Amino acid sequence: MEGNVNQELSNIFVIFGGTGDLTKRKLIPAIFSLMYEEKLPENFIIVAIGRRVKTNEEYRKEMYEYVEKFSRFPINDELWILFSKRIFYKNFDFTSDNHGYKKLDSFLETMEMKYSTMGNRLYYLAVAPEFFEGIIRNLKNNSMVCKDIGWQRIMIEKPFGSSLETARILNRNISKLIPEEDIFRIDHYLGKEMIQNILAIRFGNSLFEPQWNANYIDNIQITSNELLGVESRGGYYENTGILKDMLQNHILQMLTLIAMEPPLDLEPESIRDEKVKVLRSLRVFTAESFREDVVMGQYGTGTYNDVEMIGYREEDSVSKVSNTDTFIALKTYIDNFRWGGVPIYIRAGKRMNNKSTVIVIQFKKLRGINYYKEFKHIPNNLLVLKIQPEEGFFFQINAKKPGSEFKMEKVQLDYCQSCKYFNDSPEAYEKLILEALRNNSSLFTRWDELEHSWEFIESIEKQFKDNIPNYPNYSAGTQGPEAAIDLIKKDGRQWWNATPN
Ligand code: BG6
Repeated sequence: MEGNVNQELSNIFVIFGGTGDLTKRKLIPAIFSLMYEEKLPENFIIVAIGRRVKTNEEYRKEMYEYVEKFSRFPINDELWILFSKRIFYKNFDFTSDNHGYKKLDSFLETMEMKYSTMGNRLYYLAVAPEFFEGIIRNLKNNSMVCKDIGWQRIMIEKPFGSSLETARILNRNISKLIPEEDIFRIDHYLGKEMIQNILAIRFGNSLFEPQWNANYIDNIQITSNELLGVESRGGYYENTGILKDMLQNHILQMLTLIAMEPPLDLEPESIRDEKVKVLRSLRVFTAESFREDVVMGQYGTGTYNDVEMIGYREEDSVSKVSNTDTFIALKTYIDNFRWGGVPIYIRAGKRMNNKSTVIVIQFKKLRGINYYKEFKHIPNNLLVLKIQPEEGFFFQINAKKPGSEFKMEKVQLDYCQSCKYFNDSPEAYEKLILEALRNNSSLFTRWDELEHSWEFIESIEKQFKDNIPNYPNYSAGTQGPEAAIDLIKKDGRQWWNATPN
């Protein structure tokens, strides 16, 4: 670990949910990558907590496999020894064992002395949402947060609440225990390289910002397609669906960054202030607009690349008559001066025919373009931001096709970030952990952002309950329900993908 890294970052990283999927697949590999890149302070240890009984050695051995599989960098023996001896495992039932917290605290204090971590602790709640409040309450009751020495912060995984009301209650209760500035609510999309690039592209280029409004932009599209189904998370997914799993957080976060006003500066609070204004201007759904502008779906059996896939209702821990949504397409508006009248199209789905997250800005055609007959059928300019899996963007413009006739063709000015920085983009979790250590909350969601996003989601959920489609209504491995294509087609537009079409 690096001697030059700011030692203020020294800390004990305490993971509640140490044997869970997130810890194994994301957190431990991310921390390993940070160490590999010498971004961690010298005084840094991990204390993982789980209910199962294991020795440190057993836990470390288990983690080795996951680091080998999921880290961006190769393991070598020397590095692993250095890393693994900083991992400790403690078993206790964090849901009920109050005494366990006391024991944990005295263990952490001993480690603090030994590793000179200065009382700094980053607690990561990689547990089911129903445990958030209880853990924080126990940490507070046992004086493990808001201490007189160092800093103590809490990173909370999503979902934060399951409705506007439950999110409000959770927030009210938590904020009585710890100050807002010590809470880091995770939306891992904010750690993605291309999502951070949105600010750079928008505000770093004289080409785009002056045109970034209803005068020049015809529509905005956000697509988030996944090949995967619900995997082993059927039980969780039954209570969330795509609405709460993707739209309430990741997709609305992308939208706020695309649509917000230039913040005063790039400080966390300035950015969050502008994001909240977008969410407050987002048009919610009525019974009529829901009928016209929302398509929900659930996958049935299907094939992808000749492999047969089961339908959602056949997945583990899913009801055979489940009405949980695995797909959504919608059109809405941001009712403010900048965006008045510009349709925002969103679609997201599991078990689609590709994995792709893409944001497309479709510009209006030039007024008067029809006076030149040669230009009559030229397409609109597009700015296509490729969030993942390939990172980069292209700007689609029109140019003359070489030859004796005056014919137009569309061309792409293409920037492939993944090609330029092969495997160099840090994983979202690497960034989020590092930024929480640095106390940079701009990559985390503030309470009021969440509150307004829940309002939008509830307007959909409320209508959905009275208008449940006949599920399943699309086959796994396809582009979702036909109605989603019609949703945009009836406006004389089409969905754009990450590749020119
Ligand atoms: C998670 C959702 O937050 O995001 C998952 O719970 C989803 O259901 C995942 O698959 C998508 O993340 P990514 O980074 O793979 O796009």
